[in-house]
Amino acid sequence: MPLRILGIETSCDETAAAVVEDGRRTLSSVISSQAELHSAHGGVVPEVASRQHVRDLVPVLDQAMSACGMSLEEVDAVAVTYGPGLAGSLITGLNAAKAIAYSLGVPLIGVNHLEGHIYASWLTQTNPEEDPGFPLACLVASGGHTDLLLMEGHGNYKLVGQTRDDAAGEAFDKAARILGLGFPGGPEIQRVSEGSTGEVKLPRAWMKDTLDFSFSGLKTALLHLAQDRDIYPSPSPEIDEEQLAALVRELAAGFQESVVDVVSAKLVEMAAKYRVKGLVLGGGVTANARLREEITRRSPLPVIVPPPVLCTDNGAMIAACGYFQFQRGEEWPMELDINPGLPLG
Ligand code: KG4
Ligand code: ZN
Repeated sequence: MPLRILGIETSCDETAAAVVEDGRRTLSSVISSQAELHSAHGGVVPEVASRQHVRDLVPVLDQAMSACGMSLEEVDAVAVTYGPGLAGSLITGLNAAKAIAYSLGVPLIGVNHLEGHIYASWLTQTNPEEDPGFPLACLVASGGHTDLLLMEGHGNYKLVGQTRDDAAGEAFDKAARILGLGFPGGPEIQRVSEGSTGEVKLPRAWMKDTLDFSFSGLKTALLHLAQDRDIYPSPSPEIDEEQLAALVRELAAGFQESVVDVVSAKLVEMAAKYRVKGLVLGGGVTANARLREEITRRSPLPVIVPPPVLCTDNGAMIAACGYFQFQRGEEWPMELDINPGLPLG
């Protein structure tokens, strides 16, 4: 009998639900993004986010069920993100998951959001545990994390590198704000960078002899350059529209290349150091086209690159991850609480 797991994700600003069969086959996946709601503030406003999850969750669940033609009674377990993330946002998803699991009499599975990002790779054409197989070098790069994790088997992680200050996604969001672009910043930076001449070089923090990252110096360097070029805090009236677009393009590209260079170098270095069989990408920043291209180009080992829609937050990755936890016999008590600072590895 195939196992069908409902996955619920509300850790940040996406309300998402999905049904996944046997951890690999997505039957439905619905994502409602709050990006527009937060864009005026240039970042996620926690209070606004949690209230919007309350509004969106039931319609998103309804859509996820009707898209796969199933009724809630047919799901075998409910998997939900319980951390890390914003407290008020996590509570909405967890309480809904508890109510559904309790009323149906099916297991509740608490999922670590970061582990969920890794399992997005199980939803691709490739089956990571067979091809290339464990151990895997995993990069989870999101709005809150830039983690290098050694995965030696299902549920078995060792954190071997992380950011000492800003996360890569956070850096993209801050850089976009400096350049007067919208939120979320990552896709904006990628979009405006296209066609750049590559003339702007920004610094790279190599964090000597470690697999750690630092992005706050890069952000400051970008800020100073934007001030020097007279486009920050607002563009000088002497700069016409075309000049401004060219300046923003070159600065954005310089920033993007700096992040891409360091992240891909460290991931490839980690893969060699730990003699892994392959690389796995996850988290919103790994939706970045240049980053995907560069990691694939530099890695002598196979790289599993989920499509961008599976890199950013979604319910399918939570259901996939939940499936493998379920297989290990995990069942979580109804007392399960959120853990906004939940670590992995
Ligand atoms: O994984 P995610 O959707 O949510 C968190 O768990 O944080 O990641 C969101 C982050 C944001 O900071 C966003 O700017 C970044 O991922 N992001 C990107 C791209 N798409 C999303 N960064 C760079 N390039 C992209 N194409
Ligand atoms: Zn995420």
